[in-house]
Amino acid sequence: MPHVPSPTRYHNPALYRRCGRSGLQLPLLSLGLWHNFGGDDDFANSRALILRSFDLGLTHFDLANNYGPPPGSAEITFGKILRADLAAHRDELIISTKAGYLMWDGPYGEWGSRKSLLASLDQSLARMGLPYVDIFYSHRPDPDTPLEETMGALAHAVRSGKALYAGVSNYSAEQTTRAAQLLRDLGTPCVIHQPKYHMFERTPEHGLFDVLTREGIGGIAFCPLAQGLLTNRYLAGIPADSRAAHDPRFLKPEHITDPKVAKIRRLDALAKTRGQSLAQMSLAWVLRQPAITSALIGASKVSQIEENVGALKNLKFATEELASIEAILAG
Ligand SMILES: NC(=O)c1ccc[n+]([C@@H]2O[C@H](COP(=O)([O-])OP(=O)(O)OC[C@H]3O[C@@H](n4cnc5c(N)ncnc54)[C@H](OP(=O)(O)O)[C@@H]3O)[C@@H](O)[C@H]2O)c1
Repeated sequence: MPHVPSPTRYHNPALYRRCGRSGLQLPLLSLGLWHNFGGDDDFANSRALILRSFDLGLTHFDLANNYGPPPGSAEITFGKILRADLAAHRDELIISTKAGYLMWDGPYGEWGSRKSLLASLDQSLARMGLPYVDIFYSHRPDPDTPLEETMGALAHAVRSGKALYAGVSNYSAEQTTRAAQLLRDLGTPCVIHQPKYHMFERTPEHGLFDVLTREGIGGIAFCPLAQGLLTNRYLAGIPADSRAAHDPRFLKPEHITDPKVAKIRRLDALAKTRGQSLAQMSLAWVLRQPAITSALIGASKVSQIEENVGALKNLKFATEELASIEAILAG
């Protein structure tokens, strides 16, 4: 039986923010499929994560060609769920994918050439069973390909109807300024930038957010919870079902140091004074940035998504609270 979506899913219009100066609105929280949607993951859980998100009004699902493992399998999983449960709701969904990291053997399987990007987009569409995605990203800047070529490929994807909007990810402030100019000249504006941004990763504050605001580009912050560090997950060791324990490709146990956990504990205590969990406060903190349209969360459990949506009840920070956070982060 296909899922019947909750009739209350759009009852909170404050859940959506305009993406830069585009016509596109995104939910304040979007769900990323980097982890927990691969061929080796529990399909029933992956399905539950997507459907609960949609029922809560989260209309945006973020993928990339290489998400899995194995690479590509998250797109296959998502395509299956889409066909079985959400086919009638395609026009309510914003589905993104990206190309740029290693996906197949040989010289065209990664980076930012026209050959690589457009071939990868065709592969992603085939895996998901879609005629188009809503957003197609250059996943990372390519130092060896002219930016004109990479942006030309994004513009071509949009003009050919295989993507509705173009975006970039992991581009510096300077690279974003040039990319925005090139895309504007091509008539297919850069609508969105996907940088890593959380309390422990502040690089976008040093130039990128100014560029996004000036250029009218929306920002969607990836890893807003620092892969789970900025939650109650690691307050008392490394649980067996956590990312650091069972899939430590990117969040390695050695990243979870005593000084870091000490800071996390103090942040957790501060969150409690706001009536929030640490995850909720961390998401509200990311969303306080005017340049940020959406926080792009991951989740391994439905309960995490429900808790994270609860963050939206209190997005305001007193000046003293922000100062306390800075003091804790500074150690
Ligand atoms: N553009 C890029 O280069 C790039 C790079 C990385 C990610 N991304 C995107 O960003 C998305 C999110 O990345 P991410 O998964 O690292 O994001 P994240 O939100 O920082 O971390 C998600 C992890 O935090 C834990 N978590 C979430 N909510 C929780 C809660 N309420 N309580 C306790 N733990 C909670 C879960 O860990 P457990 O699994 O331990 O439960 C979950 O898997 C990706 O799926 C992808 O779409 C993009």
